[in-house]
Amino acid sequence: MKILSGDNPENLKKVVELLRCGNVVALPTETVYGLAGDALCPKAVGLIFEIKKRPANDPLIVHVPSFEEIERVAYVPSLLTKLAEAFWPGPLTVILRKKACVPDLVTSGLPSIAVRIPAHPLFRKILKSVNRPLAAPSANPFGYVSPTRAEHVVSSFGETCPCVLDGGPTDYGIESTILSLVTPSDPMVLRPGPLSTEDLSGILDCPLTVRTVSADPNSPVTPGSFPSHYSPQTPLQLHEDLESMHREINRKGSFENTGIILFKKPPCNERWPTEAKLLWLSEHGNLGEAASRLYRILRMLDTDPSLEVIHCEASPDTGIGIAINDRLRRAATAS
Ligand code: TXA
Ligand code: MG
Repeated sequence: MKILSGDNPENLKKVVELLRCGNVVALPTETVYGLAGDALCPKAVGLIFEIKKRPANDPLIVHVPSFEEIERVAYVPSLLTKLAEAFWPGPLTVILRKKACVPDLVTSGLPSIAVRIPAHPLFRKILKSVNRPLAAPSANPFGYVSPTRAEHVVSSFGETCPCVLDGGPTDYGIESTILSLVTPSDPMVLRPGPLSTEDLSGILDCPLTVRTVSADPNSPVTPGSFPSHYSPQTPLQLHEDLESMHREINRKGSFENTGIILFKKPPCNERWPTEAKLLWLSEHGNLGEAASRLYRILRMLDTDPSLEVIHCEASPDTGIGIAINDRLRRAATAS
């Protein structure tokens, strides 16, 4: 059985044993499920890249249980203390200068390292028992939609799936915010996420540079910020407003093979083609709920063989809505 219940202490012991022996296990975090392995063990890190079919120039995030443990893998700038007090454990990843003990494979040869202290109780228990930093990218094949449930990990990897510790659906449903502190005088947001730029700049008390989708996929500043990512196999079209979405869908005339994702449940008098498969991210337009349901809905529509296209309405561009739209833009870029 690939899915192990996180409620059973025997399963936790088994997972710890697997990780200690250099194996890879999928674990729940508060953002998305991660494909975890010992960050200081080249065999485990190699397996992560192999299972995900991830290009070697896309470095991994290293997860540690506490602030003190960060010093094991990175040099800690003084301004990190304030951020840690405010946001850790939680959905914040910071990029710091790395220490030599971390294999180059983890950081794709960069002098910097991505670190995060996750909040999920199961991930924290495992981290403490293994007593090693754990590298963990999202537990999906490279470029595909991230998993927010244990079943998503199994359905994405099929035969090659390692064990998955089931911690139920993840809370945020979208990957952590990434902030680079490599140049502490110029903190830079590399990936929007559950913590907004305002949340971060409020604590740092300084303006932040925001750099997301890289024009050059091999850019050393934002490795992995590929313009096309998080993509379902069914082509996805993103619409900035409802009117243009209506217009575009109606232009086609036939709706049978069409999936439609709205930001919120439409009023009953709003006309959408009944033949189309219509879903919404949130019942009442709550951004947190929308983020937590986004990947599940994309995966649901993507596994419907009758669909030829998915149309999606952009979310309000504020708070975690900025992260939702960032992922949707990249998902649509692949189409
Ligand atoms: O919420 C999350 O962050 C999840 C959970 C499992 O922790 N992890 C996650 O990992 O989203 P992944 O590998 O899917 O995304 C990590 C991103 C990649 O875009 C990678 O290029 C970037 O972090 N990254 C890693 N190390 C970096 C570095 N040294 N400099 C710049 N970007 C880096
Ligand atoms: Mg990922």
